[in-house]
Amino acid sequence: MKNNLFYDIDLNRVPNHIAIIMDGNGRWAKSKFLPRTAGHKAGVETIRTVLRECKKLNVKHVTLYAFSTENWKRPKLEVDTLMNLLSTYLKNEVATLHKENVKLTAVGDIDSLPSQCVKELNNGIELTKNNTGCNLNLALNYGGRLDIKNALVDIIKDVKVGKINLDEIDENTISNHLSTKCIPDPDLVIRTSGEERLSNFLLWEVAYAEFYFTNVHWPDFDEKELQKAIFTYQNRDRRFGGIK
Ligand code: FPP
Repeated sequence: MKNNLFYDIDLNRVPNHIAIIMDGNGRWAKSKFLPRTAGHKAGVETIRTVLRECKKLNVKHVTLYAFSTENWKRPKLEVDTLMNLLSTYLKNEVATLHKENVKLTAVGDIDSLPSQCVKELNNGIELTKNNTGCNLNLALNYGGRLDIKNALVDIIKDVKVGKINLDEIDENTISNHLSTKCIPDPDLVIRTSGEERLSNFLLWEVAYAEFYFTNVHWPDFDEKELQKAIFTYQNRDRRFGGIK
């Protein structure tokens, strides 16, 4: 192991923004004859591990897809468990995040979450808003298409009241009206547990991101797996549509 690293990562070229689709909690639990909710609980532990490692490697932004606009279709018990895990995580963790200079942000339709989650989330966002370390961004009740739709509605409103001219609209106008406007586009998207799709995650923002898929279920994803993803990313040839 070099520099205490499992892989030969160039610490000067870590992705600025890693976005993660934390998949496979249910399958992990099933493989252990446990209820799905046990998988989500184990998944929270992985969040702690991955965030710690991202801070260590100096990754500036970490977006976690914690609950999609489609996840409401799950059984009530599972939705309730996820919401409880979220509010408990925030309640227990926000003071530590603050101490570690982490800035908590969220994207998605936050106000439609259960009131306890909204309260804990807003407390955390307010407390950590001036922090300058790692940015933990939670995608909650988030859908990429909904976010783009909302941006379009806002832009049309701005055009109607004369705040923007139609011929001034460019790609930045759209980026600047998305809920992710304060965060740079992801460099690396990780999806665990074998599925290779985006599931409505950051559709606009991932235009030039690198994708990394692994069969490892989210509760088994650890420091070594994160480093492997970053190492793979660093060995990709990012051309952004140009040539090298
Ligand atoms: C995907 O596994 C995971 C989720 C839909 C939820 C992820 C949420 C957490 C880990 C906990 C709550 C969040 C925070 C920020 C504390 P799955 O259930 O789709 O797994 P499966 O595809 O194997 O069924």
